[in-house]
Amino acid sequence: MNARKVAPGLSAVGAVDWDRRLFDSLIPLPDGTSYNSYLLRTGKQTVLFDTVDPSQTATLMANLTSVDDLAYIVVHHVEQDHSGSLLDVLARFPQAQVLCSPKAVDLLGDHLHVDTSILRAVEDGEELSVGDKTLRFIHTPWVHWPETMSTYIVEDRVLLSCDMFGSHLAVSDVLARDEEVLPAAKRYYAEIMMPLHAAVSRNLTKIEHLDIALIGPSHGPVYTNPQLIIEAYRDWAEGPPHNTVVIPHVTMHGSTRILVDRLTASLVDRGVRVERFDLAGVDLGRLATALVDAATLVAGTPTVLTGPHPAMVSVLYLVNALRPKTQFLSVVGSYGWGSKMLEMVKTYTANMRAEFIEPVIVKGAPREEDLERVDSLAGAIAQKHAEAGLT
Ligand code: FEO
Repeated sequence: MNARKVAPGLSAVGAVDWDRRLFDSLIPLPDGTSYNSYLLRTGKQTVLFDTVDPSQTATLMANLTSVDDLAYIVVHHVEQDHSGSLLDVLARFPQAQVLCSPKAVDLLGDHLHVDTSILRAVEDGEELSVGDKTLRFIHTPWVHWPETMSTYIVEDRVLLSCDMFGSHLAVSDVLARDEEVLPAAKRYYAEIMMPLHAAVSRNLTKIEHLDIALIGPSHGPVYTNPQLIIEAYRDWAEGPPHNTVVIPHVTMHGSTRILVDRLTASLVDRGVRVERFDLAGVDLGRLATALVDAATLVAGTPTVLTGPHPAMVSVLYLVNALRPKTQFLSVVGSYGWGSKMLEMVKTYTANMRAEFIEPVIVKGAPREEDLERVDSLAGAIAQKHAEAGLT
């Protein structure tokens, strides 16, 4: 992708990665992604904000061909999908000054082996005049790493927010039709930001008083209606959970599926929404997205060698790390001859501050009385949701 105009003097010069299908060897990317670099020409001096993933260095360097002189390179975040081409850019523009947060100095030394003496740390709120523009650096720690910062271009009312507000979307439009980006932005929030929701809240408070016309994140298109994504982030980070039960499930000989089917029907009869995820072929991004809002998670799993099915262990490990706002937890499942599954599920979800509701764990094929226990579980969940006033 060639350089694309974002605003007068500001261009997107990064890379759209149309074909990438996995991030961190973990996160599915059904819609690809982008690594956004922004180039600001001020009339006097030129500034580059972030670089791109090392796999896309050639695209960035091609988009900088017409640049004669680069005064500054702003590194918002050291993770390699944004800093990975820094050494190549410095080789082309050795006179450029690298600006970053104080915490980024050591990290750049560690991750890129940059000579840290060439780095200039900027303070939170520090302003830099560049030609006719004023850059205000805003430290935004923990969205995504401790060193992460943003830049507010004062005269143009543009916030370059790095990972915060990002979306894994490969699209040709540089400016977003914001409503269309929200599903991908929510998925990105679930995968990257949800474990850091307290930091998200703090940083929203830090930036939302700004007069913002455009938000340029480091992944996905630029927001032209910033209030929409800011309010969505507030809701995802702080809003009450919904009257929804997420049921990741796996079955071996069908017993657990019978329990999950009965639970689904019984919850729906009681006015509770259900989102089910068969772990045979699950998209972990969709599951994480569902957990942004769900009040309850019920794990449906058979017993394998006294513990949960390994596919469920993997999911519970991830859920425990993602720290969703789930308020209630339970289990439905089966075993052949013995099980310590419940104790292990509780261990794997220890970080979640969720109330455990009486599970239904059945020896062999479910009998009618087992299904009635599933109905009781559905009733208990519906009652908890009602008492909490969830909609
Ligand atoms: Fe897009 Fe935390 O890197």
